[in-house]
Amino acid sequence: MNILIVGGGGREHAIAWRLAQDSCGPTLFCAPGNAGTAALAQNLPISAEDVPELLAWAKEHRPDLTVVGPEVALCLGLTDAFNAAGLRVFGPCLAAARMEGSKLFSKEIMAAAGVPTARSASFDDAAAAVAALDGFALPVVIKADGLAAGKGVIIAQTRAEAADAVRSMLVDAVFGAAGAQVLIEEFLEGEEASILALVDGERAVILPSSQDHKRIFDGDQGPNTGGMGAYSPAPVVTPALLPVIMDTVILPVVRELKRRGIVYKGVLYAGLMIGPRGLNVLEFNARFGDPETEAVLPRIAGDLIPALQACIDGTLRDDLIQVRPGAAATVIMAAGGYPGAYTKGTPIYGLDEAAKVPDSMVFHAGTALKDGQVVTAGGRVLAVTALGADLKTAVGRAYEAVAKIRFEGAQHRTDIASRAFNR
Ligand code: AMP
Ligand code: GLY
Repeated sequence: MNILIVGGGGREHAIAWRLAQDSCGPTLFCAPGNAGTAALAQNLPISAEDVPELLAWAKEHRPDLTVVGPEVALCLGLTDAFNAAGLRVFGPCLAAARMEGSKLFSKEIMAAAGVPTARSASFDDAAAAVAALDGFALPVVIKADGLAAGKGVIIAQTRAEAADAVRSMLVDAVFGAAGAQVLIEEFLEGEEASILALVDGERAVILPSSQDHKRIFDGDQGPNTGGMGAYSPAPVVTPALLPVIMDTVILPVVRELKRRGIVYKGVLYAGLMIGPRGLNVLEFNARFGDPETEAVLPRIAGDLIPALQACIDGTLRDDLIQVRPGAAATVIMAAGGYPGAYTKGTPIYGLDEAAKVPDSMVFHAGTALKDGQVVTAGGRVLAVTALGADLKTAVGRAYEAVAKIRFEGAQHRTDIASRAFNR
C-alpha cells in the first residue's frame, strides 16, 4: 500500500512514524517532509500548499491513500481535486474544511447546531466594528475570518488595542482577504484542551484528549507560537466530559453540515475552553493539531490505517481505535528568536543519544539534511516525545531526551504538562 503524506512538520513526522508501524507495512511518500520523515518515507520536493503539483504527482503514482497534515491544502480543495481524479484522501473536502477556513462559517454552524461557544459579532466595516466594541467587556478577542497561520487572533486588553486590531485587519489588510471580515468575541476564562475526532460523515470516534502550550515561555508568558509542547491525556477533560463533547460539540456539527449537504470526513479538531462557564468551543480545525498529534498518535495501539480508510468509506467504528493506557508528552525545541526572526541551517547534535532514551521519539518539525548533517530549517525544530505509564514518567523521559540534544540558540519550555500536575 502506497501512502502520500502531505506536509513537512512534526505532525507529519508523527503521522509517518505511526503509519509505518501498521501491519500492512505501507510504502510512504512525504511532500515535502523533513530530515525525520526521510528515514521512513521518500520525501518529494513538492510544497504542501501546491495542490496542482501534488495532484500531478498523485495522478502519475496513484497512491492508495493520501493523508493531509496542514490546513492550507484542504482549504484550497485538495480533497475535491484528488477525489475527482479517483484518488482517496483522508481530510475534508473544501466545503467541510471551511469549519477551519472561515471562523464566520464555523460560528454559523455552531449557532445552528446549538454548540456552546463565546458570543460574537462579525463585521466587514471598521467603523461599525469599532462602535460595537462598547458592547463587549475587556479583554475582548478580535479574530480574522480566514486562515492567518495562527496569527489571526488578538486578545485586546484595552478598547484602543481592540480598535487597532480591527483596523489592522479591515483597513490595513494585514491578513489580506483572510481579514476582510472580523469577529469580535467575548473573552472566556478557563483551561484549554484539544479534542481530535475521526469523522466519517456521520459517526465520530474521539481520540485521546490533549493540551497544547501556545506561549513561548514557561508559565504561559510571552507571545503566541505554533505550540511549544503538548501532553495527553489532559486531565481537564474528565472521562465524564467525553460523552458531553461527543453529543454537544462533535456530532451536532457533523449533522448540521450533513443537513446542508456537506459530508465531513477526516479529523474534526475542537479547541475547547473549560471553565466557570462550562464547556465552550473556541475554534474548529479541519485536521490533526500540531503539536497535539505528536503526543496523541503514539498513544494509539494497533493499526491506524483501517480507521482512516473507514472515515473515507463511511464505515467508522469505535473498535477501530485502540488506546494504550498511560500518557505521552511532547516538548518542542525551537530555534533561537522564535516566534520572531530566527536563523536556519544550524547543525543539530545528539539525536542518536536522544533516541536511546526508552520510549522516546524525536519527531522532526523544522529540519533538513545538509551534506548528511541534520540542520535546523524552521522555527519549531524538534518535537521530542515520550510515552510513560503516567504523565510524570512521560514528561521525565521527554526532558531526558531533550537534554541530549544540542543546537545553537535552542530554546524549550521546562513546564510542559504543569497544568496537569498543579490540579
Ligand atoms: P483560535 O485560533 O480561535 O483557537 O485562537 C487562538 C488562541 O486564542 C486560543 O487557543 C486561545 O488561547 C485564545 N482564544 C481564542 N478565542 C478566545 C476566547 N473567546 N476567549 C479566550 N481566549 C481565546
Ligand atoms: N496546536 C494548535 C493547532 O494545531 O492549531
